[in-house]
Amino acid sequence: MTENTQDMTVLVTGATGRTGSRVARAARAAGLTVRAASRGTGFDWEDPSTWAGALRGADAAYLVHPTDVGSPAATKAVGALAREAVELGARRLVLLSSRGEDQAGPTEEALRTSGADWTIVRASWFSQNFSEGPLVEGLCQGELVFPAGEVREPFIDVRDIADVVVAVLTGGGKYTGRELAITGPRLLTFREAVAEISRATGEELVYTPVTARQYGDTLAGFGMPAEEAEFLVDLFESLLDGRNAHLSDGVRNILGRAPRDFTDFARKAAAAGAWKA
Ligand SMILES: NC(=O)c1ccc[n+]([C@@H]2O[C@H](COP(=O)([O-])OP(=O)(O)OC[C@H]3O[C@@H](n4cnc5c(N)ncnc54)[C@H](OP(=O)(O)O)[C@@H]3O)[C@@H](O)[C@H]2O)c1
Repeated sequence: MTENTQDMTVLVTGATGRTGSRVARAARAAGLTVRAASRGTGFDWEDPSTWAGALRGADAAYLVHPTDVGSPAATKAVGALAREAVELGARRLVLLSSRGEDQAGPTEEALRTSGADWTIVRASWFSQNFSEGPLVEGLCQGELVFPAGEVREPFIDVRDIADVVVAVLTGGGKYTGRELAITGPRLLTFREAVAEISRATGEELVYTPVTARQYGDTLAGFGMPAEEAEFLVDLFESLLDGRNAHLSDGVRNILGRAPRDFTDFARKAAAAGAWKA
C-alpha cells in the first residue's frame, strides 16, 4: 500500500552526496516535502546541537553517515540522532547500510533499539564509486589501483538505491522493521567494470590489483590517520573476500523492475564527462 505523501516531510541527510542527492530528487518527484541536510544547511553529524533544528517537524528521515556505516563514529551518531528523531516525532527512519559488512552491525543495532519505525537498506558497492569519489582520479589518469583482486561484485546504481528508499518512505509501514539487501543485476570483477568504462569512454584504462595492506599504506602515505587507514584495510579484506559475490533480489521485489545495469551507468557517466581528465 502506498500512502498519501502530500503531507510527509522527510529529512534527507547527505543531500549533496552520491545517494542523498538522488534520494532528495526521487522523494520530491514522489510528492514528498524534502528537507535537504548537509553541513552547508547547518546540519553537522559531529555536532548534536544542530540535529533538533533539522529534525523538528519532519515525519521521516533518510540517514546516511558520511564515514563508513561500520565506523564507531557512525554507530554513536546514528544511535543518538535516531533517539532524538523519535522524541521529536520523526519516527520513520531509513538507514543506508552496506551488504555483507559485519562492521555495520553495531550501527544497525543502534537504529533498531532507538524506538524508531526503522528500515535498513543494505546496498552493494555503488557503480558511482567509479565516477564520483576517490576512484575517479586514478581512472582519469588511466589506471585504477584497488585491493579487489578478481572478486566479483554486483555493483548497484545509486539511482536504484534512491528509488528503494522512496518506496520505503512511501510504503505505509510495509518495510518497517526490515533489512533490505539490494544489488545490481550482474556480477562483475573490478577488472571487468574498468573494461566497461574503457569501452564507454574510448580510453585505454588499466586495473591494477594490490593487497589491502598496500592500499592502506598508500592512503596513510597521503595523510589518512593510521586508525582510519587500518579500518579500511580490515573492511576491504573482509568485504572483498568473495562473501558478497552473489546477487540479491531486493530491487525487483521492492520496485517491481530490474535494477539498472552497469553498462547503462558507464555510458551515461561517460557522456556526462565523469572521466575527462
Ligand atoms: N560506497 C559504497 O559502495 C557504499 C555501499 C554501501 C553503503 N555505503 C555507505 O554510504 C555512506 C556514504 O554515502 P554517500 O556515498 O551517499 O555519501 P557521499 O557521497 O560520500 O557524501 C557524503 C555526504 O555527507 C555530507 N557530510 C559530510 N560530512 C558531514 C558532516 N560532518 N555532517 C553532515 N553532513 C556531512 C556531505 O555533504 P557536505 O560535505 O556538503 O556536508 C555529503 O552530502 C557510508 O556510510 C557508507 O558506508 C557506501
